[in-house]
Amino acid sequence: MHALVIYESLYGNTRRIAQAVARGLQESAEVDIVPCTCAEEAAVSSYDLLVVGGPTHVHGMSRQTTRDAAVDTAQRPDSTLIVESGVRGIGVREWLEQLPPSSGPAATFDTRVDKPALLTGRASKQIAKRLGRVGFDIIAPPESFLVDTDTTLLAGEEGRAESWGRALAKKCHVTAV
Ligand SMILES: Cc1cc2nc3c(=O)[nH]c(=O)nc-3n(C[C@H](O)[C@H](O)[C@H](O)COP(=O)(O)O)c2cc1C
Repeated sequence: MHALVIYESLYGNTRRIAQAVARGLQESAEVDIVPCTCAEEAAVSSYDLLVVGGPTHVHGMSRQTTRDAAVDTAQRPDSTLIVESGVRGIGVREWLEQLPPSSGPAATFDTRVDKPALLTGRASKQIAKRLGRVGFDIIAPPESFLVDTDTTLLAGEEGRAESWGRALAKKCHVTAV
């Protein structure tokens, strides 16, 4: 089995979750992990499983304006946030917009603030909707991994992401049999 993990991350939390999901998948699959800024050429249809994740911005997927706001916030003198290198480019939303009609199993995740989802929104639900629209079969409920109000991943979230990746691989194998 060969899986592709595509992610967007401004401050590194979604990257760390994507890496943890990849570690879980790697126990039973070969995994490529690619930031969406470099993924325009990714041949998604050649994979047995596609996993896509991004940060929740303004209740959904980021836009250029929210990514600019994230960079501006990090540049304030009182900020301790560090912007990932190479984030100037597309986000998951723009990457999804250029996807051709496709098929195959897929799953989605996001990072968001640790508050009720009704208040925060969840990018993973929007990502799943878009993937479904181009033809992917969403094999697991969209999953959220949580940060605190200082934008630090809650303890245990990377471990939970690793378990989620492991379970996805298992589900994919079972579906394929
Ligand atoms: C411009 C902006 C808007 C945000 N809007 C939301 C939101 O609507 N709901 C939420 O839960 N978190 C929101 N957040 C917090 C992000 O989801 C959180 O910073 C994210 O998990 C960080 O991921 P990253 O480190 O991979 O960039 C927002 C952050 C930024 C910078």
